[in-house]
Amino acid sequence: MRILRPVIIPSVCSCRLCQATSSLIPRTPIFAAMGNDITIDEGLKFDVVSETDSRLGTGRKTSGDLDDTTSIASLSTTYSTPAPPSILSYRYENGRRYHGFRGSSYFLPNDEHEQDRLEVVHEMFKLIVNGDLHRAPLPPNLCRALDFGTGTGNWAIEFADEHPDCEVLGTDLSSIQPPCVPPNCLFVIEDVSSPWIFDQKFDYIHGRSVKGIVTDWDFLYCQIRNNLENGGWVEIQEIDSAFKADDDTLDRAPKTSLWNEKYNEAGRISKHRVDIVRDQQACLERAGFNDIHEEIYKVPIGPWAKGPMLKELGRLTLMHSLEGLESFTLGLFSRVLGWTRQEIDDLMYDVKKELLNPNNHFYISAHFIYGQKPPV
Ligand SMILES: C[S@@+](CC[C@H](N)C(=O)[O-])C[C@H]1O[C@@H](n2cnc3c(N)ncnc32)[C@H](O)[C@@H]1O
Repeated sequence: MRILRPVIIPSVCSCRLCQATSSLIPRTPIFAAMGNDITIDEGLKFDVVSETDSRLGTGRKTSGDLDDTTSIASLSTTYSTPAPPSILSYRYENGRRYHGFRGSSYFLPNDEHEQDRLEVVHEMFKLIVNGDLHRAPLPPNLCRALDFGTGTGNWAIEFADEHPDCEVLGTDLSSIQPPCVPPNCLFVIEDVSSPWIFDQKFDYIHGRSVKGIVTDWDFLYCQIRNNLENGGWVEIQEIDSAFKADDDTLDRAPKTSLWNEKYNEAGRISKHRVDIVRDQQACLERAGFNDIHEEIYKVPIGPWAKGPMLKELGRLTLMHSLEGLESFTLGLFSRVLGWTRQEIDDLMYDVKKELLNPNNHFYISAHFIYGQKPPV
C-alpha cells in the first residue's frame, strides 16, 4: 500500500497567469509516493490523501462510492503532518543542485538552470515533429497516460491539455513540477526503477530524454509492459548521446570527439548508460512488444543546414548544447571519471569553441521509438 501526499500546495503559484486566474484554478496537489526510505522533518503543513479515501494518483479505487466528478482537491483532508525531506533535500556539487531522493543516482542537476534547459528540450522535440507530442498511434479509448522521468512536466501538462478526458500521471525523482497543472494531470515523486504498484493500467506510457535514468532497461520495459493495457503503446523520445557529422567535421574537432568518448565511457562505468538509443528496439522486442517503429531525425547544431525550419532548430540546438554542456559533463566527469573542475572547464571551453565554429557541421539524432503491447 502506498500513500500519496502532496509535495507543493500553495493555493496558487506566484506566476502572473495563476495570480490573474486564481479563482479559476482548482487546487491540484502534487503527490509524492511515500517509500520506506523517506525520513521525516518536523513542522510543515501538508494536505494528505489518506490511503483509504483516495483513488487518485495511482488510480486506486477503494470503496467505490466516489463518483467520477469528485475533484482531486476535494479528496484531500487537511491536517498537520511532517514534510517529506528526502524529496526536498538536495545535493550541492560544483555549484549545481542535484536530487537527494534515492541518493544521487542520477547525474543531471535539477536546479533552475537545468529546468530552463528542459524548457528548451521541450521546444526542440516539438519543432522536430511539427509540434506533435507523440508519434505512436494513441488508442481510441485513451483514459490513462504515464510520463516517467517527467522533469518539469511540460510534456505531461501539454498532453493533459490536449486530452482532457485522459488522466495523465508524471513521475520523477525530483519535485520540480509546477503547482498549477490541468485538473487531469498529477505528479508523483517516484523512482522509475522501483517496482511499479499502480492499481490501474495505462493506455500509453511515454518517456522523453530519459537516457541514464536506469541501469536495467529490460526490467523497465517489463514494468512498462505489465502496466499497459492490452493494445496500449509505449514511446521513448531520445537524443543520441553523440555529436555526429557527415563530413570531416569531427576529425577537425578533437575536443568534441574526446568529450563524446568520455561521456559515453562515464555512462557505461556508472551503469547509467547514455548511449541507449541503439538498444531500444531490441529491448522492446525482448519485452514482447509488437509493431515496433523507430523514426530518426537529424538535428543540426547551429544554423548551417538548409531551410528555415532547420536553421531555427539549429540555432535552438546550438544554444541548448552550449547551455547544457555543463549539466551533461559535471556529474559524470567528476563523480565517475574523477576529473577536476579545472580539467572539466578546460574541456568544455574547447568543445564550446568547436561547436561555435561555423565551418563545423555537427548534428545530433533524435529518435522516436514506439511499440504496441499485443492486443490480446
Ligand atoms: C533529462 S530530464 C527529462 C525530463 C522530461 N522527460 C523532458 O523531456 O523534459 C530526465 C528526468 O528524469 C528524472 N529521473 C532520473 N532518474 C530517474 C528515476 N530513477 N526515476 C524517475 N525519474 C528519474 C530526472 O530527475 C529528470 O527530471
